[in-house]
Amino acid sequence: MAVPGVGLLTRLHLCAQRRTRVQRHIVRLLSCPGTVAEDLRRDEQPSGSVETGFEDKIPRKRFSEMQNERREQAQRTVLIHCPEKISENKFLKYLSQHGPINNHFFYESFGLYAVVEFCRKESVGSLQNGTQTPNMAMETAIPFRSRFLSLKLKNQTSKQSCIQSSNQLPPSNRKLFELLCYAESIDDQLNTLLKEFQLTEENTKLRYLTCSLIEDIAAAYFPDCVVRPFGSSVNTFGKLGCDLDMFLDLDETRNLSTHKTSGNFLMEFQKILSVIGECLDHFGPGCVGVQKILNARCPLVRFSHQASGFQCDLTTNNKIALTSSELLYIYGALDSRVRALVFGIRCWARAHSLTSSIPGAWITNFSLTMMVIFFLQRRSPPILPTLDSLKTLADAEDKCIIEGNNCTFVHDLNRIKPSGNTETLELLLKEFFEYFGNFGREQNKPDSSPLYIQNPFETSLNISKNVSQSQLQKFVDLAQESAWILQQEDAHRPSVSSNQPWGLAAVLLPSVPNRGSLTKKKRKRSANERVKNLLESLKSNRTANFTETNEKRTISTQT
Ligand code: GTP
Ligand code: MG
Repeated sequence: MAVPGVGLLTRLHLCAQRRTRVQRHIVRLLSCPGTVAEDLRRDEQPSGSVETGFEDKIPRKRFSEMQNERREQAQRTVLIHCPEKISENKFLKYLSQHGPINNHFFYESFGLYAVVEFCRKESVGSLQNGTQTPNMAMETAIPFRSRFLSLKLKNQTSKQSCIQSSNQLPPSNRKLFELLCYAESIDDQLNTLLKEFQLTEENTKLRYLTCSLIEDIAAAYFPDCVVRPFGSSVNTFGKLGCDLDMFLDLDETRNLSTHKTSGNFLMEFQKILSVIGECLDHFGPGCVGVQKILNARCPLVRFSHQASGFQCDLTTNNKIALTSSELLYIYGALDSRVRALVFGIRCWARAHSLTSSIPGAWITNFSLTMMVIFFLQRRSPPILPTLDSLKTLADAEDKCIIEGNNCTFVHDLNRIKPSGNTETLELLLKEFFEYFGNFGREQNKPDSSPLYIQNPFETSLNISKNVSQSQLQKFVDLAQESAWILQQEDAHRPSVSSNQPWGLAAVLLPSVPNRGSLTKKKRKRSANERVKNLLESLKSNRTANFTETNEKRTISTQT
């Protein structure tokens, strides 16, 4: 159907010539090929506006409630690839023919895209019915109807309108440096950093929409499956630009529950992911660079979703990670200092190349977050409760056992008492660096890895098993140096107008201007200071705290 006044909307999808080969492959892999072209309709869900995620306020919603609302919102949403020259008014007018629009935004990523959320889900169906596929012959063979559309203008002479694009990227180093230098205190700096780096409302919407689009594809083969985001996209610790971790939840899929009794889960999961990987590779609109990493402990399919710009990891036997995300969400919501400190430490680690987007012997963001939580649990009075105390607050509804692991903890945030601790972020930042700058030598660790961070729910697993001795030492040295820089500054804080990096900026930006010679001197003194600290810590038995709790270089959020 031609679009009056606008142009032509087409559904973006598959590469036709590959279809037959892929479908043959799928039939081979699946024991139940009959599900392929099943009806995709789902139950209607109520529409309505949804509260924003975590901008400027701490969420008090239950994790599951927040996830369900976001998911329902995403199901009423379409993604449209737009030409550069577009009239926003005409565009919205056309789309409104299919029903009222709740909200929309534009963003750029290899072209201009619009995310349009209708008030009602049936508007999406109406819009899809009004679209064309590039080649009608393919229509019947396509097992799903994509909500990723492309708009072609009928009239190419339309004037370019002034469309405001939503930003999906973190600030540049220069901008960050300026913002931090003009902040009034270290507390202010940490809160500014959080505000600049946290996922925006639009970015969060785009993450849920991407999962929903992938779910459309997966549901063509596994009806009733759900693709849920987890990790930093939803645990409130995600920085703009972080990857999108997705969990293919097959609990509701009848077919799988029959296989569950056979006990050969891993192979089953590998097969399923293999099928989904093929689908994404061949049919997935905008999915590129699909890699199937099936022999890992947790098999996954990795790909880039070009339209959203997200690097995606899709797993299926990873329910515990979803539970860990909920635990972190709760910790992030309990006290406003938690996220500010975690963002500060994550950015600090990234700035000093302690973390990387490439897997290796370095510490991960997940481990860093656990370290901050562990540190905050040990303040006096504690800022965060231990996992054990969250378990004691749980009621019968909260009971949860996953693969034999007790994952029970309280889900209702309102049942957790706020902390009476009033320490400033500045103090916490300094003491975090001091604490880990004096991280003791290993003793009584459950294995020989240099760093042992206990996985909260699979307690026999070390989430930092990959960290090498040299990476751990680098972390400890940098923590010590940062503690030293902040201590020195107490005496000589530069005035805001001097444009000198200070506070968080001084420990965060390794290559900021005006720091060169100062850094050299500081480094030299810092090494002396380090020796002094070490001697003092031996004398005062400061690191013995770890020994007493049987946890030298061992971190556990449990007790
Ligand atoms: P970024 O992607 O770096 O922003 O942080 P993230 O928390 O999303 O980490 P990542 O993408 O590496 O992993 C996603 C989720 O998987 C984490 O939030 C954890 O719930 C879980 N996870 C990550 N690493 C481990 C690990 O070593 N062991 C276990 N059991 N779970 C992990
Ligand atoms: Mg992640």
